[in-house]
Amino acid sequence: MKFKSLFTSSIALGAALAAAAGTIDINVHPDQATDTVSRMIYGQFAEHLGACVYEGIWVGEDSPIPNTKGYRNDALEALRDLKVPVLRWPGGCFADDYHWRDGIGDPKNRPTLINNNWGGTVEDNSFGTHEFFDLCELAGIEPYLSVNIGSGTVQEAAQWVEYVTAPNGPLARERAANGRTEPWKLKFIGIGNESWGCGGNMRPEYYADNYRRYSTYMRNQPENKLYRIASGASDYDYNWTKVLMERVGRGRMDGLSLHYYTVDDWKTKGSATQFDETDYYATIGKALEIDTVLNKHIAIMDKYDPKKKVGLLVDEWGTWFDEEPGSTPGHLLQQNTMRDAMVAALTLNIFHNHADRVRMTNIAQLANVLQTMWYTKGDKFFKSPTYYVFRMYRPHQDAVNIPLDFNCEIFKDKKGRPYPELGATATKAADGSITVSLTNPMLKEGHKVNINIDGLKGLKVADAEILTAKDMHAMNTFENPENVKPVPFKGAKVKGNTLTLDIPALSIVSVTLK
Ligand code: AHR
Repeated sequence: MKFKSLFTSSIALGAALAAAAGTIDINVHPDQATDTVSRMIYGQFAEHLGACVYEGIWVGEDSPIPNTKGYRNDALEALRDLKVPVLRWPGGCFADDYHWRDGIGDPKNRPTLINNNWGGTVEDNSFGTHEFFDLCELAGIEPYLSVNIGSGTVQEAAQWVEYVTAPNGPLARERAANGRTEPWKLKFIGIGNESWGCGGNMRPEYYADNYRRYSTYMRNQPENKLYRIASGASDYDYNWTKVLMERVGRGRMDGLSLHYYTVDDWKTKGSATQFDETDYYATIGKALEIDTVLNKHIAIMDKYDPKKKVGLLVDEWGTWFDEEPGSTPGHLLQQNTMRDAMVAALTLNIFHNHADRVRMTNIAQLANVLQTMWYTKGDKFFKSPTYYVFRMYRPHQDAVNIPLDFNCEIFKDKKGRPYPELGATATKAADGSITVSLTNPMLKEGHKVNINIDGLKGLKVADAEILTAKDMHAMNTFENPENVKPVPFKGAKVKGNTLTLDIPALSIVSVTLK
């Protein structure tokens, strides 16, 4: 339904006045660029869940699947291709059931456990601390460790951090005996996960006290300073954020997390592949609602921390649909279509816009789970449409967000949530290049977009790609792995200060000017 009256919103950075149909004018102001879009916003999350870690990344050195030290070669290549900056592990809910000592030492002697959160699968602990930190080193990724405060102890958590980071002492000697002499680098440490739910069903006041207690013993080393992250709210639970800011506050925590999944109804999430136009726009509306949710959490944080010292870390986000029919229950395998790609792009645009407070995000999850980057079956591997959005958006990592303004139509989904006919973001990189990414969520209408960039003179289109499909259900499969992938975009022209683009319906376009 078209929303006719005047409407103001911060979504899509646009002043939301109804504009003449057909052409959209965007003004981009590189001289007003302010906040750096941390590359950590492009973070990933890998949990011991279904085929995310086992099969999706780790196959073991003896596997016939081509691997390097047990990590799939195709996965390693994809991690590097995406320039994945940070990886959160081992959960999720699994983190508060995980006892790190089960995952060190000779793999043959490691105990097994039942993964009670995720389908009762037997976990053999062959992927543990060494395997995780070595992976991060190999692929140039910052590790983000989530420690167990639900079913573990302060001593266990403190010793894990010491085992990983201490240059000497008994735990460093044990680490060396297990094959690693030098300490690893560890910055990001999450104290619990969803402590209001699977991480212990705590009240915020109780969690705040627990956070203070646990974080006391997560010790820095001379060469290793930790960035301590408190387990944050789910979605609309603003009270959780308030209590944490009040009772823990800055100084004790560097970051506070937030989880927001694009799911309308947890009982009937809906199919990942069978949906109609109304469902499609409802998914878009729900995804965009994260902007309002962020604004509300940030307003609370601003009250207690006006200098924005504490980062807001959206360390789980993405679409969550029904599991793939016929897949193992509890493994959260779902397909990924152009709809998911659209959610990814629109959400990343919003994160850019909140770069002054949002310092990291981790999409759920890296492989074979939820809004995944890739799928594996034996030695077969294919990339999802969401993967390609992350790849197209690489130039935005560590670039400076540029304010832009434009007028466009705002529509409403079946639940009354607004969605604009265009999403847009622009950043300026250290080398002076400017990347503009446009997202057209409309299923039928293309747009002509005139982008007026102050000082554009002299810059030329260096790179331009488009991700699009005729059908919102379009996806990749093992049989047709490259059905949806970006292709060079020919519809970008520069004249004077203006970059003009003709973008089709259901498309994501990224243009870098140098
Ligand atoms: O990503 C799947 C699960 O979603 C995580 O384990 C949990 O933290 C969240 O509820």
